[in-house]
Amino acid sequence: MENKVSVGLLGLGVVGSGVVQIINEHQEKLKHQLGVTVEVKRILVRNLEKAREVDVDPSLLTVNPDDVLNDSEIDVVIEVMGGIDTAKDYILQAFAAKKHVISANKDLVALHGPELHAEAEKNKCDFFYEASVAGGIPILRGITDGLSSDRIERVMGIVNGTTNYILTKMAEEGATYEAALKQAQELGFAEADPTADVEGLDAARKMAILARLAFSAPVDLDDVKVSGISNITAEDIQNGNELGYTMKLIGYADFKNGELETHVLPTFLSNEHPLAAVKNEYNAVYVHGKAVGETMFYGPGAGSLPTATAIVSDLVAVVKNIRLGVTGEQVVNSYYKKALKDESERFSQYYLRVNVEDETGVFSKLSNLFHEHEISLKRIIQRPNDEKKTAEIIVISHQTSEENFTNLLEKIQKLDVLKEISSYYRVEGDGNE
Ligand SMILES: NC(=O)c1ccc[n+]([C@@H]2O[C@H](COP(=O)([O-])OP(=O)(O)OC[C@H]3O[C@@H](n4cnc5c(N)ncnc54)[C@H](OP(=O)(O)O)[C@@H]3O)[C@@H](O)[C@H]2O)c1
Repeated sequence: MENKVSVGLLGLGVVGSGVVQIINEHQEKLKHQLGVTVEVKRILVRNLEKAREVDVDPSLLTVNPDDVLNDSEIDVVIEVMGGIDTAKDYILQAFAAKKHVISANKDLVALHGPELHAEAEKNKCDFFYEASVAGGIPILRGITDGLSSDRIERVMGIVNGTTNYILTKMAEEGATYEAALKQAQELGFAEADPTADVEGLDAARKMAILARLAFSAPVDLDDVKVSGISNITAEDIQNGNELGYTMKLIGYADFKNGELETHVLPTFLSNEHPLAAVKNEYNAVYVHGKAVGETMFYGPGAGSLPTATAIVSDLVAVVKNIRLGVTGEQVVNSYYKKALKDESERFSQYYLRVNVEDETGVFSKLSNLFHEHEISLKRIIQRPNDEKKTAEIIVISHQTSEENFTNLLEKIQKLDVLKEISSYYRVEGDGNE
């Protein structure tokens, strides 16, 4: 290896600008750590005229991908352009040209990670993507290296800053979903089209990547059941607060005895759970290992410099591997086989809010149904509405299977006194899972 490592960037937007800034500002430290100088040699963009957030020599910019992918002096390609098909094509070209690749692209890695790893391995190239999950939090290396000696059994994450910001505003200021979303958009925490964030799709992609690495199992994006936060009401959030629970969009992945359960769902977390204290746009990933017990990784899940630190750390790892002559030797093939748990094996507590006619015996009709399904109740609130002659009943149940709870809902639906089932959510963190 020469005394210089040359890097080509695909993209110079929010993250790419941060990468250039960190490489420039940390040049001396990088040289000390790696024994080589890191040089940004070429940068692919779409628009050469656009103003940039970072000082770059305009002659480095190009709109021709070949200037990066076919430059034999470039050792490492950093993909920070986003999108799926073109990014995948460029990364495959980079591997074919024996270049190592670092990516921040969760959409791509969630969908095509195993295929890209296979290509990397075939070409003896490294492929790292620490920035694709929870931005600046070093969670992927935390689970693949830091906890490599343990058997991780459960991962729970707040891995989408936009939804966490919205839910925090709804809980702390009593804001409606619409008002909190608007505020998030004004502050740049939510995109103009927030669908991927608020419907849980972005979190699902991150959970697929996390679960794959945490469990060493072949987790596909389709394995992650998803529901977003756009139907959550201020009433439910306040009810949860009253009962000691905080609403969060939780990415959940559990893997025991070869059986996988993974989803992204709005969930009431007990205020005792460490994730309940994670507010605003912050991210956190809670990891339960068989030997280590509980651990939690907390920090900024996005942003130019936080995300860029993860990318430059990947670059440090690549350069160290080049020096040791061990590139392309990451063990990423799944060790375990996977079977998905069916709904009789997926257990949770539940929050249920129903609206019923306010007449004598209504509550006992409802509680009889819980009793018939062997679901005991932990907390109950009953609120009569004298004007409408209705009552709202809110319960927190003890643990039951998803199958049993679904059967219960079907029975409740048939109650003559029922006005509507207003909402129901999973409840986690009460200490009895
Ligand atoms: N933003 C974050 O905080 C964050 C956090 C974690 C991960 N990520 C991931 O990082 C990646 C980049 O995100 P970003 O926020 O930096 O995006 P961005 O600000 O939109 O920047 C994208 C950059 O890629 C260039 N580009 C896009 N498509 C191109 C194409 N077909 N050909 C050439 N250049 C192209 C753009 O060029 P022009 O500038 O000329 O338009 C721009 O410089 C995404 O995969 C994202 O999911 C972002």
